[in-house]
Amino acid sequence: RSYAEYFNYPEIIAHRGSSFEAPENTLAAFNLAIEQGVDGIEFDVRGTEDHIPVVIHDATTRRTTNDITSNLVSRVTYDYLSQLDAGSFFSLDYRGEKIPTLAESLSVIKGSARVFVELKVSSTSLEELTMELLSIYDMLDEAVIMSFDYRQLNRIKDNYPMVKTMLLVPIFYGNIDPILSYRYIDYYGFSYQMILTYPEYIEKAHQLGKSIYAWTVNSESSIRKVVNSDVDGIITDKPLLAMEIASKKNL
Ligand code: G3P
Ligand code: MG
Repeated sequence: RSYAEYFNYPEIIAHRGSSFEAPENTLAAFNLAIEQGVDGIEFDVRGTEDHIPVVIHDATTRRTTNDITSNLVSRVTYDYLSQLDAGSFFSLDYRGEKIPTLAESLSVIKGSARVFVELKVSSTSLEELTMELLSIYDMLDEAVIMSFDYRQLNRIKDNYPMVKTMLLVPIFYGNIDPILSYRYIDYYGFSYQMILTYPEYIEKAHQLGKSIYAWTVNSESSIRKVVNSDVDGIITDKPLLAMEIASKKNL
């Protein structure tokens, strides 16, 4: 049992690592999140042209690296990506930080926090490579696979029933019941705006044995609101702030 469970407050997940204080989706951001004592770390996975799973949010290198020409991650080799600086866009203090591979990320996080692996591309080859790596690192039982694509999570659950799946839902109109009943989904990742609009979804999910995670909750006021709801987890760029607020929940 984690502290979060013991004290009955939500699990705190660092979004792209501790990405308010360090460059997102880098080993520096993951190590900082671990030092801060988070329950879990979320990061985004894409495949290179030569099929290496790497950790980067956007489809291109433009926003988070020093690449002179913006390139699609899927159209360059890992060797090319490995030359790029993925730290100085954030701060020169992090100059030289690299785009991590999935393997490097797993080896840094293993044993220190739960991994929340978000697949950014719905390709079966990326899924297979990701699941093979989780299996090599013996992390299938602890990992959570996240996606906006329910069909992708369906395929993964069929092949790896022991892994936890999280369907990401940004906004929703209509009847949530059939969605909350998908047998191959364990957790739902709702935007926090959605949770604040439809707080009754949490209770409905719990009745069906599912957990609810809220993303991406960064302001003090929204963290406070979400902490006071019944969510199971909070995905945030500011895990320290969230832990501080969450730990006072039941005082
Ligand atoms: O935690 C869910 C969140 O990561 C989904 O959105 O764009 O930050 O990957 P994004
Ligand atoms: Mg993400």
